[in-house]
Amino acid sequence: MITVIGSLNMDLVVQMDTFPKQGETIFGSAFKTAPGGKGANQAIAAARLGSEVSMIGCVGNDSFGDTLRKVLSQESIQTKAIKSTAVPTGIANILIYNQDNRIIVVPGANYELKPAQVEAAREIIQQSQMVIIQLEIPKETVAYAIKLCKEAQIPVLLNPAPAANFDVQWMEDISYITPNETECAEIFGDDFDTILKKYPNKMIITLGSEGARYFDGEYQIHVPAYMTKAVDTTGAGDTFNGALAYALVEGQSLDQALYFANIAASLSVEKFGAQAGMPTLGEVYARMAGLEE
Ligand code: RIB
Ligand code: NA
Repeated sequence: MITVIGSLNMDLVVQMDTFPKQGETIFGSAFKTAPGGKGANQAIAAARLGSEVSMIGCVGNDSFGDTLRKVLSQESIQTKAIKSTAVPTGIANILIYNQDNRIIVVPGANYELKPAQVEAAREIIQQSQMVIIQLEIPKETVAYAIKLCKEAQIPVLLNPAPAANFDVQWMEDISYITPNETECAEIFGDDFDTILKKYPNKMIITLGSEGARYFDGEYQIHVPAYMTKAVDTTGAGDTFNGALAYALVEGQSLDQALYFANIAASLSVEKFGAQAGMPTLGEVYARMAGLEE
C-alpha cells in the first residue's frame, strides 16, 4: 500500500490567448473546474496504475470538499484519514496560455492538516510500503510525517513543491526527492552535477519534456521522456511521482521505475486537467510497446 500525505484542491482553470497586464481586463477563452492538489493528484496517479492507496489530508465542509472526496473514492482510494474542517477547501487558480501555465494556490483546509492528524493515522502509515509527501501542507506536518516514517522504517518519496516549504534537514531521512529544475535551483543552487553526486540514487531532478536525471553512484543517468501532443501539462509532475512510487513498490529498479514514470507522465498531458489523463497500467504498457516497435 502507498500512503499519500498531502493536499486536495479544486482547480479553477482559465484558458486565455494572452496573459493580462497590470490593471488590464481581458476575455478568457474557457473556464473549467477540475479536481487537483498535488497530494490528491499523486494518489490518483498511483491508484490508477493499480496501487492500493490511502490519503491523509483535509478538505472544507463545502461542495468542493465533497466532490474531491468522491473523486478519490471513485478511484478506490481509502479516504477515512481525510478530515473535513470549517476552513474552506483549498483551490488552485490556474491560468493557461499556450503551453505555459501559472498557478496560484490558496491552501485553505490543507493548512489544517496538523501533526496530530498524521499521528492519528500512524497505523495506516505503518502498513505502507511507501509514503509520498509534497509541500502544500504545513511544514511542521511534513517534518512530523518524515520523522514518523523514519521510526517505522517506511521509505518516503518527497516531491518538494512548492520549494519554499522545504527544509534541508529532511534529506537524511527520506529515500527519494524529486525536484524539477526550478525547485532544485531554489533549494540546492544550480550546480546540478554536484548536487546529483551528493545524493546518489536519492536525488531525481525532473526535466519536464526532457525526462529526468540522477546519479547511480558511478554515473550520471539521463532517463528520457516522451512528450507528445501536449494538451495540458498540469499534473504531469504529479503523474510522474505517483507512477514512480507505484513502480518502486512493485520492485522495479530506479532506472526502470523512472522510465515507467516518464511514460506515465507523457500520457497524462494528452488530456485536459491534472487527473483526467493519468494512465492505467495497460495504457503505460501499450505506449511502451509502441515505442519499442
Ligand atoms: O501539480 C498540479 C497541481 O498543483 C494542481 O492540481 C493544483 O491544484 C496545484 O496544487
Ligand atoms: Na493532463
